[in-house]
Amino acid sequence: MSTSAASAEPLLEVQDLATHFRVGGGFLRPARQVVRAVDGVSFSMQQGQTLGLVGESGCGKSTLGRTILRLIEPTAGSLRFEGRDITALSQAELRPLRRRMQIIFQDPYGSLNPRMTVRAAVGEAMRVHKLVSSRSEEEQRVAALLERVGLRPELMSRYPHEFSGGQRQRIGIARALAVEPRFIVADEPVSALDVSIQAQIVNLLMDLQDELGLSYLFVAHDLKVVEHVSHRVAVMYLGRIVEILPKREIAEGARHPYTQALRSAIPELDPKKRRTRTLLHGDVPSPIDPPAGCSFHPRCPIAEKGLCDRERPLLRQFGSDHFVACHLADRAERTANAGAGAAVLPAPGPV
Ligand SMILES: Nc1ncnc2c1ncn2[C@@H]1O[C@H](COP(=O)(O)OP(=O)(O)O)[C@@H](O)[C@H]1O
Ligand SMILES: [Mg+2]
Repeated sequence: MSTSAASAEPLLEVQDLATHFRVGGGFLRPARQVVRAVDGVSFSMQQGQTLGLVGESGCGKSTLGRTILRLIEPTAGSLRFEGRDITALSQAELRPLRRRMQIIFQDPYGSLNPRMTVRAAVGEAMRVHKLVSSRSEEEQRVAALLERVGLRPELMSRYPHEFSGGQRQRIGIARALAVEPRFIVADEPVSALDVSIQAQIVNLLMDLQDELGLSYLFVAHDLKVVEHVSHRVAVMYLGRIVEILPKREIAEGARHPYTQALRSAIPELDPKKRRTRTLLHGDVPSPIDPPAGCSFHPRCPIAEKGLCDRERPLLRQFGSDHFVACHLADRAERTANAGAGAAVLPAPGPV
């Protein structure tokens, strides 16, 4: 899919990706059902950039992030990483690639072994991938990494519980960086932190990107954070991408009613910039039995009967790097790029 104008080879290309979970079934249990956590997602990402992935809880963001890293098996679709099809690689074949693709979690406490010192936790990954040849070299590199993420190297002999949430996230980042990755899935890395600490961690991630040329898939339910860190933003709803757009267009150019609702949930302090608010009612429906047509239609303020509840909207292109899956996206227009017209996305398959 050529959704990006850049000529360099994309870091990652995701095509028609689906991840379904089978749940239930068995003795005296309800019949087996299929959870369509990710249901036909296509996008690509450039090297050195951040793609933000935003949507309410339960939309499939974590499942998508983990499927991309092949931590969860895809049900359908394809994944290309650095030009190579990794969809069907065995776990053994994936092992050398694991170094290049890392993940940072919302709760590093859950991912750090409580009985391992920071020194051991950060050093472990280096040892597994044979990046160090001696204990002293490992210790030196752990110290340098801790320093790089803003922790005093003397703290390396301590255990995770001796650190604050923000410090633990720095340890999680150091651990991910230990293997010199190119691509990091950051799954709600600041969602559990106080706002003041969030900014520090976000700034650290952005500095590391500049310095090391890292690419991030930055997952969050908070559009404000995503908007700050991202070059492009993908908005996910019930297992699908409903809008993908450059950061600069989020403020005034978002066209999907869901994106607009997420945006209007951000408090605006400047009264001159206050806008009409689109409030979201109800919860995200179950991905076991998603609504027909556009899955957002039951909560959409502009949905049209007979259209939105019947036909699934495909991603259509509006502007050079902006795609929207909404039948009424033309009406949601708010920006000056009026008249650009809509072109049907040439990507094959349902989106
Ligand atoms: N292992 C699993 N088995 C069954 N359902 C799952 C599993 N993991 C996630 N889900 C379901 O898939 C949907 C998407 O979940 P998730 O990817 O965690 O969303 P998000 O990260 O956006 O909150 C949810 O309905 C969730 O309950
Ligand atoms: Mg999640």
